[in-house]
Amino acid sequence: MQETTSDFQIYVEDTGGSGTPLLLIHGYPLNSEMWKPQLEALAGPFRVIAPDLRGHGLTPPTPGVSMDLFAQDLKTVLERTGVDKPVILCGLSMGGYIAFAFYRLFPRSVSGLILAATRSKPDSATAKANRDKQAALSREKGVAAVVEDMLPKMMSPDTYRYNPGLVDQARQIMMETSSQGMASALLAMKDRPDSTSLLSEIPFPVLVVHGKDDALIPLEEAEEMEAQLQHGILETIPEAGHLLNLEQPGLFNRAVMNYLLTLQDFPKEGK
Ligand code: MLT
Repeated sequence: MQETTSDFQIYVEDTGGSGTPLLLIHGYPLNSEMWKPQLEALAGPFRVIAPDLRGHGLTPPTPGVSMDLFAQDLKTVLERTGVDKPVILCGLSMGGYIAFAFYRLFPRSVSGLILAATRSKPDSATAKANRDKQAALSREKGVAAVVEDMLPKMMSPDTYRYNPGLVDQARQIMMETSSQGMASALLAMKDRPDSTSLLSEIPFPVLVVHGKDDALIPLEEAEEMEAQLQHGILETIPEAGHLLNLEQPGLFNRAVMNYLLTLQDFPKEGK
C-alpha cells in the first residue's frame, strides 16, 4: 500500500482488522520486509502496520532526516491508515530510537512500547566517527560495501552456521536501501538525543526484548534500560543476534503476545 504524506509517498504494510494496532518500526539498513514473520503470525490479535522509512525499501530517500522526522512520518501514516486509537510501538534498533522520538512527541498516541535490540543512549564519540566512515563507504563504494561490512555482525553465530538462507534473505533486504537513504539515516542516528531520562517517565509496562548474542548492542544495555523502567519486562532470546525477530520468530512473537496480555491486565495486576 502507498500512503501519501504531505510531501511524498511512504510504503506501508498493513494487515488491517480490528486488533490492537501494532506499529513495527524497522532498523537500519532494513525495511518492512524484516517484519514478515510478525505480519504473518500476529495479524488477528493485532492490526500490524509496518512502514518503510524514508530511503529504505520502497520509500524514496530525502536528505536531512532525523529521528523526529521519521516519527512524524509514522504519525502521518497512522492518520492516513485511519488508526484513531493509541498504538503499541515496536522499534528494532534504529526503530527503537524512532520509537523514543515518537513517544516524546506524541505520548498520548502510545499505549505500549516494545524496545527490540535497541538502546536509549546516544552515540559515543567513536560511534559518531564510525557513522561518518560508513556514510563515506556508502557514497564511495556503494550500498553493497556497507551491507557486506555489517552483515557478519547482524546475527547470532548459530544463525550463520545453521541458517545461511536467512543470512541471504537479510542481505537482500539490506540491499534494498538506497545509498542516499543510508547516508541520511547514519547522520540522523549520529545526531540523535539521549533518551535515557524518558525511561523512568513511562507509566505503562514496557517490553525490552534482546538477542543473547547481539554483537551490535550488548545485552547489558537492555538490562540497564529494564532497570530504569517503572514496569520493565526483559525477554532475552537465545540463539539470536541483532535481528532476533527473524532469527527466532516463534520466541519473539510469543514475547509480543505475552506482552499484549500484560498490557490488558495492567493496572489490574497490581491491585
Ligand atoms: C540498526 O540495526 O538499526 C542499527 O544497527 C542501529 C545503529 O547502528 O545504531
